[in-house]
Amino acid sequence: MNGIKICGTGRGVPDTIVSNQDIAARVDTNDAWIVSRTGIRNRRHSTEGDTFLSLTAAAARQALESAGITPGEVGACIVATLSPDTLVPSAACLLQRELGLPEDIPCFDLNAACTGFLFALHTMECLLNAAPRKYGLVVGAEQLSRLINWEDRGTCILFGDGAGAAVVECRAEFPSISAVVGCHGNDTLLHVPGAETGGRSLISMEGTKVFKFAVEAVPWCIGQVLEKAGKTIDEIDFFVLHQANARIIDLALRRCRIPPEKCYQNIGEYGNTSAASIPLVLSELHEQGKIGPGSCVLAVGFGGGLTWGGCLIEFA
Ligand code: UT7
Repeated sequence: MNGIKICGTGRGVPDTIVSNQDIAARVDTNDAWIVSRTGIRNRRHSTEGDTFLSLTAAAARQALESAGITPGEVGACIVATLSPDTLVPSAACLLQRELGLPEDIPCFDLNAACTGFLFALHTMECLLNAAPRKYGLVVGAEQLSRLINWEDRGTCILFGDGAGAAVVECRAEFPSISAVVGCHGNDTLLHVPGAETGGRSLISMEGTKVFKFAVEAVPWCIGQVLEKAGKTIDEIDFFVLHQANARIIDLALRRCRIPPEKCYQNIGEYGNTSAASIPLVLSELHEQGKIGPGSCVLAVGFGGGLTWGGCLIEFA
């Protein structure tokens, strides 16, 4: 099978910054608790003018520009999300029209909660092997502020909005991303109702139990990806882990004996953006010149479903 590499990244985030103090003005919490338990200081919430499409399109346009390709060269488009505007049409179909992507390509949404972007990269690698065009557009996007339960101080502090995108290229000489993905069905630990309620969907989570799952899943995924790819920790330039909680990241790094300087965190500024969190990190690292051609990144995600996944991302 031909492999894929990332050749462009981008992001689109709302302008409105919601600080811990802003949240504390609304619910019984405080900055010290939120920072010490999560690492979050700010998050972005959508206001009038920020639509799901405006965020995804901004991220995708930047990624296409950074890859130096035109929309007409895209061979498949996947939007990973759990919070699209509509179930039908999919966010990816609306993005196809907005960007002028070709009509003869698969464009669809994928929901694997916070692991969505990595499920989508894995799916894209398989798809592009059968596609006539060699570039794929993968977007992770969420407007979680619409799903926040403001009666629950354990979860309302966590979530933010944003979109991150990557353009990938498929070539025979590229190695596979060595993806490891999985799930075990659980509808109690992390739940966002769909059509079942006929009303508003709000996020509910048993945070402490999800935390325990995450600190097991992340080191396991890191080990599995390294083994599958035949690499060692020393050969990885950066570890990009889902930004759910700084304590989960720190614990995973310690368990795997990964030097903290090999891991970039932006949870402090964006909070938990679910499927957008990994591509937001990739786009910042790329923009800052910390990763680029020749870089090797190991990414791991985990979340509702329960789902988990990891892969190796190289840059073309
Ligand atoms: O992205 C998908 C995957 N999601 C995750 O990985 C999230 C994983 N879970 C977590 O990040 C953490 O479990 C949370 C940040 C959600 C919660 O942290 P915790 O250390 O597990 O806190 P807790 O729920 O056990 O609550 C501890 C205490 C409780 O008080 P008592 O019962 O000990 O008196 C809570 O009522 O903290 C209290 N508490 C708060 N206090 C101030 C809970 N939320 C807050 C709050 N402000 N916002």
